[in-house]
Order: sequence, then structure tokens, then C-alpha cells
Amino acid sequence: MFPDLSQVYDSTSATLTGGNRVERRLSDLAGCFQDEAAWKALVEESDPLLYAVTAVEPENHAGGLHYGLGVLYPGRVGEEYVMTKGHLHTWRDAAEVYIGLRGEGAMLLEDWESGESRLEPLRANSIVYVPGNTAHRTINVGSEPLVYIGVYPAQAGHDYAAIAQRNFRKIVVSRDGAPSLQDR
Ligand code: F6R
Ligand code: ZN
Repeated sequence: MFPDLSQVYDSTSATLTGGNRVERRLSDLAGCFQDEAAWKALVEESDPLLYAVTAVEPENHAGGLHYGLGVLYPGRVGEEYVMTKGHLHTWRDAAEVYIGLRGEGAMLLEDWESGESRLEPLRANSIVYVPGNTAHRTINVGSEPLVYIGVYPAQAGHDYAAIAQRNFRKIVVSRDGAPSLQDR
């Protein structure tokens, strides 16, 4: 039998028919932001919703694909732009394709072996290929919601523990109103 083969998304409302929606608030990102005092103050004040991902998982075998529609809201914690937790795939070889739909964002990519980092733009009409063995974090550097789709192997898995142990080496901060990649 065929699984659900077709879904409909809307980039303005950031909705996708089908799939499971997971929400992340600021308190879910303990230890991620550089400015811990700013993080704590904002958590205590309102603990805002930072992002939500609606994931569709039609098949789980080795050749299958999963995909998710993400919406990452704009804002800053201290000088650092709002971002996702970030992860490596548990199956380290698993790559991913990100397709930008709306808003102004960037992908922070870190080769986990060498530590080499890159910042790639993610916005409407852009596609970012995330190679295997690459930690990836999505960042909203604009003033409206960033909406994107990520497509990845069904067996990729999400390893957040590696990031909790060793955060990304670089941070993305606002300098004179523009995003700037800095050492942590
Ligand atoms: C899946 C993927 C995205 C992210 C989403 C939320 O492999 O990379 O769908 O899961 O951008 O980010 P995290 O998972 O880091 O909280
Ligand atoms: Zn991923």
C-alpha cells in the first residue's frame, strides 16, 4: 500500500497538511545561547515560542525520506539571533536539503571533524545542501518568520547530545544591524 504521497504547505501561515508538529520554546534551548543572563531573563519574562517543525514520515526503511516544514520566529537573545537547537544526524553520513520559502535566514554549518564553519543564506528561492558529518543550525537574521523545508533520509536520526556536549564553535550576532559570524 502507498503511504500518504501528497501534502500541501502554505509558506505564509507556515502550515503543512499531515505530519506531527513539535514546538520549541526558549527554555528548550538551555545552554545554546552565548549570553546566559539574557537567555534566563527572557525565559522568566515570557519563554517565547522560537520555532515549530511539522514533520512528515511516510516510510522508515533505508531508502525512505522524511521531510519537515519549519517556522523560526525572529528575535535576538542578547546580540545573538534566534536559532534552532541544531544537531548532527545520528547516522553521520546522512545529508539533508533545505529549501527556503519565506523570510531571511542562514544555515550555520560545522564540519564536525575539522570544526570548519560556514554560514549559508536561507531565504525564498535558495537551497542549501547540508553534507553528512555536518552539524547544522538554522538562524533567523530577519524581522519576519523564516519558513523552510528540510528533506533528509528516513534513517538520519537527530543527535542533540553531541551539540549539548560541544556547542557550535561559531555564533551569529548582530553587528551594526547585520549578521556576523564570530568565535564563541
Ligand atoms: C531535520 C532537520 C530539520 C530540523 C529543524 C529544527 O534533520 O534538520 O527539520 O529538525 O530545523 O531544528 P532542530 O532539530 O535542530 O531543533
Ligand atoms: Zn537535520
